[in-house]
Amino acid sequence: MGFDYRMRWSSLVVFMILGFSRVILINGEFPGPQIESITNENLIVSVFNSLDEPFLISWNGIQQRRNSWQDGVYGTNCPIPPGQNFTYILQVKDQIGSYFYFPSLGFHKSAGGYGGFKILSRSVIPVPFPPPAADYTILAGDWYNKNHSDLKAIADGGNDLPFPDGLLINGRGPNGYTFTVDQGKTYRFRISNVGLATSINFRIEGHKMLLVEVEGSHTLQNTYSALDIHIGQSYSVLLTADLAPKDYYIVVSTRFTSQVLTTTAILHYSNSQTSVSGPPPGGPTTEIDWSLEQARSIRWNLTASGPRPNPQGSYHYGMINTTRTIRLANSAQMINGKKRYAINSVSFIPADTPLKLADYYEIPGVFSLGSIPNNPTGGGAYLQTSVMAADFRAYVEIVLENQEDTVQSYHIDGYNFFVVGMDGGQWSPASRLTYNLRDAVWRCTTQVLKIT
Ligand SMILES: *[C@@H]1O[C@H](CO)[C@@H](O)[C@H](O)[C@H]1NC(C)=O
Ligand SMILES: *[C@@H]1O[C@H](CO)[C@@H](O)[C@H](O)[C@H]1NC(C)=O
Ligand SMILES: *[C@@H]1O[C@H](CO)[C@@H](O)[C@H](O)[C@H]1NC(C)=O
Ligand SMILES: *[C@@H]1O[C@H](CO)[C@@H](O)[C@H](O)[C@H]1NC(C)=O
Repeated sequence: MGFDYRMRWSSLVVFMILGFSRVILINGEFPGPQIESITNENLIVSVFNSLDEPFLISWNGIQQRRNSWQDGVYGTNCPIPPGQNFTYILQVKDQIGSYFYFPSLGFHKSAGGYGGFKILSRSVIPVPFPPPAADYTILAGDWYNKNHSDLKAIADGGNDLPFPDGLLINGRGPNGYTFTVDQGKTYRFRISNVGLATSINFRIEGHKMLLVEVEGSHTLQNTYSALDIHIGQSYSVLLTADLAPKDYYIVVSTRFTSQVLTTTAILHYSNSQTSVSGPPPGGPTTEIDWSLEQARSIRWNLTASGPRPNPQGSYHYGMINTTRTIRLANSAQMINGKKRYAINSVSFIPADTPLKLADYYEIPGVFSLGSIPNNPTGGGAYLQTSVMAADFRAYVEIVLENQEDTVQSYHIDGYNFFVVGMDGGQWSPASRLTYNLRDAVWRCTTQVLKIT
């Protein structure tokens, strides 16, 4: 059975959110409509670009095993020209969980254009928790008063991006969004960080959150009173409305920033007579260690099923021998007077011919394999249409090293990976002794904190 989602990109509309800014709407909505699907469904999504510039949508965490050329990333997928349309045909094969989609070109994400994407389990697959009374999506992240073309101009002018002007929850400012719950019932919240630059901390005043799922993995069900969520990450928690009937703050604040931005939404008990008052509860004050410890506590539930009936633990990922090690380090540098971000000193530039087409039709001169080093070079950054080759069925160890003083967030588009270790200091082969080869979560995006 297939679902047919027809999405139409509205024209740019002037909105007033935390200042004057242009917002990208989808079907007239910001955030865009949520895509709700069930494991293995085929989705047909037609995207009509009504903007006056090229547009491309990326399906964060949706694995496109068959159609990787349409994953919505520059280099594999052509942007949709102004006034044109493109139909994506995706199968959410062997996937469950919480994700979102976002525009991946030209800082468009800073102007909206994103929406939730959830994949429910097939009815025959046991889910390791009872069905919640409702399933709420929270898309939270930083917001800039400057529009996306001004942000691009800042980077092109050789400068760092400015600090964000605020945070939004589902496109609204402080207390602009209300989630209603009945006392005594349990709800699922799927929270994603849809921002451009800052990690966030998420908490619900007075309540504990039971973590149940991270980007398609069922986790050990630990309770948390606050969760760090980095750019591009998605978490599912269960919340039981078991406190006195009143309204409570849902709080999002920036993490690892010298100035802390905070915004709130409302958790409204349906029998509440009391609205929120006073300052919202503060976030964690300890920085790195708290966050690191929390990241390590997020584990796979080995006995729970994922998208398939067999338990997640039956994959035994830690028993597969790796065939190759790649070390990647980031740097922010100036190239031709512009601020550019590089991996192993290479800042990617798209080729005129999409790489997938060049590959398929064997067009020479578009890219060359191995045009990005396997290890950090420490050298100056340069522009390159960089492509790294990998062997079919290779099992690769990737070490991500953060050489900047801000948190980095890495998304491996179209693939999931196991985050087996996270620590400070310099990685060495001896670090392998500390790897979690048993119950690390399988996810699509990982943070790399700045740990000295
Ligand atoms: C979508 O684009 C195709 C060309 O790629 C065009 O033939 C078709 O008319 C467009 N559909 C709509 C509804 O604009
Ligand atoms: C962004 O704002 C600038 C003014 O600061 C304006 O010139 C430009 O047209 C705007 N761009 C878009 C895409 O709205
Ligand atoms: C793991 O999943 C099983 C379902 O297979 C569930 O009964 C159990 O409570 C879960 N364990 C934890 C620690 O979350
Ligand atoms: C991994 O390598 C070891 C030693 O090289 C070998 O004995 C073992 O069979 C390999 N395991 C797998 C799953 O290939």
